[in-house]
Amino acid sequence: MKPTAVTAAFATAAPPAQSGKGYNLEEIEQKLAKGAGISGVHKADLPTPSLLLDLDSLEFNINRAADHAKKYGIDLRPHAKTHKTPEIAKLQIAAGAVGVSCATIREAEVLTDAGVGGLLITSELVGPNKIARLLRLARRAPDVMAVVDNPIHAEQLSEAATAANVKLNILIDIDPTGRRSGIAPGPAAVELGKKVDSLPGLELWGVHGYSGASSHVVGFEARKEHSTQYMTPVIDSFQQMAKAGAPARIMSGGSTGTYNIDCHLDGMNELQMGSYIVMDVDYRRIGGASGEVYTDFKPALTVLATVVNKNYDDIATVDSGIKSFATDRTCGPEPLLDGVTYSINGDEHGRLHLENAKVAVNFGDKVELIVPHCDPNVNLYERIYVCRGDNVVEVWKVGARGNI
Ligand SMILES: Cc1ncc(COP(=O)(O)O)c(C=O)c1O
Repeated sequence: MKPTAVTAAFATAAPPAQSGKGYNLEEIEQKLAKGAGISGVHKADLPTPSLLLDLDSLEFNINRAADHAKKYGIDLRPHAKTHKTPEIAKLQIAAGAVGVSCATIREAEVLTDAGVGGLLITSELVGPNKIARLLRLARRAPDVMAVVDNPIHAEQLSEAATAANVKLNILIDIDPTGRRSGIAPGPAAVELGKKVDSLPGLELWGVHGYSGASSHVVGFEARKEHSTQYMTPVIDSFQQMAKAGAPARIMSGGSTGTYNIDCHLDGMNELQMGSYIVMDVDYRRIGGASGEVYTDFKPALTVLATVVNKNYDDIATVDSGIKSFATDRTCGPEPLLDGVTYSINGDEHGRLHLENAKVAVNFGDKVELIVPHCDPNVNLYERIYVCRGDNVVEVWKVGARGNI
């Protein structure tokens, strides 16, 4: 794996200072329950492993995406599957997003409970449990949108919505590449749009088309070619739908890797990028429009770990392993320690490789590591410690954590 010099993106590449207060989770919860906030809590006071969010970087990312959307006259409905956290969704909307996208019905339920509107659920909700919950949700949140990729599902939704006297807003899910979910672009997709438009209880709003295969193509020009090739037929189907008299108004898609490509595709009017909000090591590797490292957005999410063994010169052991990091990618976490790399060393342990270390690493040190893949990494944690510099300023519950 090519090193990506993530450390350079952070203001502090040194381990956080030690203050020695040592709050445990319950004490932090009690402070919050008393309404006392958590003032005076320092990063180094936290139990490890903990998930930290750098607020300065988060704000930078939110503002950068909002500026981009404004500049290119495109709506932003960022994907909340990355963070699953109502506080973050609210910040995105406060900065101009028209709403947020969700991957699961639970994400949509939790966000609705928290007062977040403008939800688009980008996965098909199939079966009686999910359909009933969608209808209940639509009663509370009439602007919620769901996706459909086959006529049987459309009929089921129509029947259920009619029986419940609820109107469901629908986007046709068109699959640009993957044979995962979505209908292939072309006449069948246009027919499905027309069918949804004709069914009682359903209201067609447009098309959802997410080219996940384009998002991590390495090299900006190659990625541009890939996304343009696969998104063009999707957008064409969207335009055909509108021409055929079906009211297709929203054309939603895009990712952190393609946000500055898809916004130039004629017809695309909504971006649903997700990872940009906190970034990760994997995204840094894909390269940006201006260089080999993708630096459009800043890494904001780290795991705080403790060095629990330093009995050798060339390695150290930290208390964060498989249970602390998503391990689905070929890249691992990146320590914010110049010249130091990390490898998994078991469920609870990881190894720091110190052969090229430019900083001292000592027994008991606290170390921060950029997460390899942000979405599943967030999902491993119950709470996010929100930091301004070295101070913990808030704790946000990962309210929609889970996979249902
Ligand atoms: C349907 C859908 N839209 C948007 C996104 C956001 O992509 P990214 O996190 O790469 O920006 C995802 C991510 O998996 C997705 O599944």
